[in-house]
Amino acid sequence: MGNVIDFQPSAASLDALLAEVARIGGQPLEDAQTFPPAAYTHPGLFALEVEKIFKPGWICVGHASQLRGKGDYQTLNLLGELLVMVNDGSRIRVLSRICPHRWAPLVEGCGNARSFACPFHKWTFGLDGKCLNAPLMEEARGFDPADYPLPEYRSEVIGGFVWVNLDGKAEALAPQLADMTASLAAWETDRLELAIDLQYECRFNWKIVVETFMECYHHLGAHASTFEPNFPARMSWVEDTRPAWTLGHAAPRPGREQSAFDYGLPHFPGLASESEKQAFRLYHVYPFHLMHAMPDRLIWFRVQPVAADRTLLQTYVLVHPDTTKMDNYAEVMKQQSEIQHAINLEDIGVNEMQQIGAHSGMVRPGRLSHLEKAIWQLNRYVAGKVCGARAEA
Ligand code: FES
Ligand SMILES: [Fe+2]
Repeated sequence: MGNVIDFQPSAASLDALLAEVARIGGQPLEDAQTFPPAAYTHPGLFALEVEKIFKPGWICVGHASQLRGKGDYQTLNLLGELLVMVNDGSRIRVLSRICPHRWAPLVEGCGNARSFACPFHKWTFGLDGKCLNAPLMEEARGFDPADYPLPEYRSEVIGGFVWVNLDGKAEALAPQLADMTASLAAWETDRLELAIDLQYECRFNWKIVVETFMECYHHLGAHASTFEPNFPARMSWVEDTRPAWTLGHAAPRPGREQSAFDYGLPHFPGLASESEKQAFRLYHVYPFHLMHAMPDRLIWFRVQPVAADRTLLQTYVLVHPDTTKMDNYAEVMKQQSEIQHAINLEDIGVNEMQQIGAHSGMVRPGRLSHLEKAIWQLNRYVAGKVCGARAEA
């Protein structure tokens, strides 16, 4: 099947595509359609999404559990930018990891460092990005290492999650997410520990990742034996539109015992209401921050769009700190990792199918079920950003 999606996207006119995106983004829910297939394949639309959505927006790039100690760092490539997230001892910073001398990337991967020394000519930078030493530069007139720090990206840490705004001009994020953060209070997201990290190089558009994540209609097919028995598609629903985020719920099949909500890990101690104890919540912060809140874990899907038909996807399972102390923790998490991977493959399989279908000349916008309200919400968001005027409800 792989060669099918190696075909180049059609040379559909970007203007015609944008007109369709605007039309579909303005539909009422009852008339909702998918975007046209070119919205998932056209490099011109992807370039517009980068310029008008990703760079001006907020992208979640890390979690405090990866950066607890002074000097802990994590690197990331994001839309051509090379980042390093680092704990400088007082706060988490997101710095450029490109040396300001002749632009070599300073550091790769993750680890702990006291400073960053460039492998090219050994300029050295502190954890706060200051240039500490630039050898043999005495004869460069007026040169002062202080004028050459590693540039810092604008960032915020909210509930332990590290967010970056690449163009530096976005509105502050924390107030936009205040109600979401409150809804997750019982999960104590800033205290969570990273338990599972699974990575996938996906051959489909970033919107397909979000769409499938947010609708439970596909429990009928893709998750027929995993989610459908306890969380049937027909009982799922999505909350009304908010500017910065939305929330979907997979409600349990009526009459399930509480034990149906035990997945192998201790529940978060602070869960109080039934809605928390039976939670199957799907959070989506625009454009593509995805979290699945369950009674015993919070799963964060880190999405990195690479091209119109390429997306890196990382699944992080985060657990309460007490969970890491349970007997046979390593063995339990190995088993949980296999379960999570199998479920991820159920989604990746259908996502690949959708992307393959999008390359056919016979495909036109499909109709959406009311269970796919979050796709309708995403369409409105994308159309509003790339086409200008946002459709009114
Ligand atoms: S490129 Fe980094 S020191 Fe020269
Ligand atoms: Fe799924």
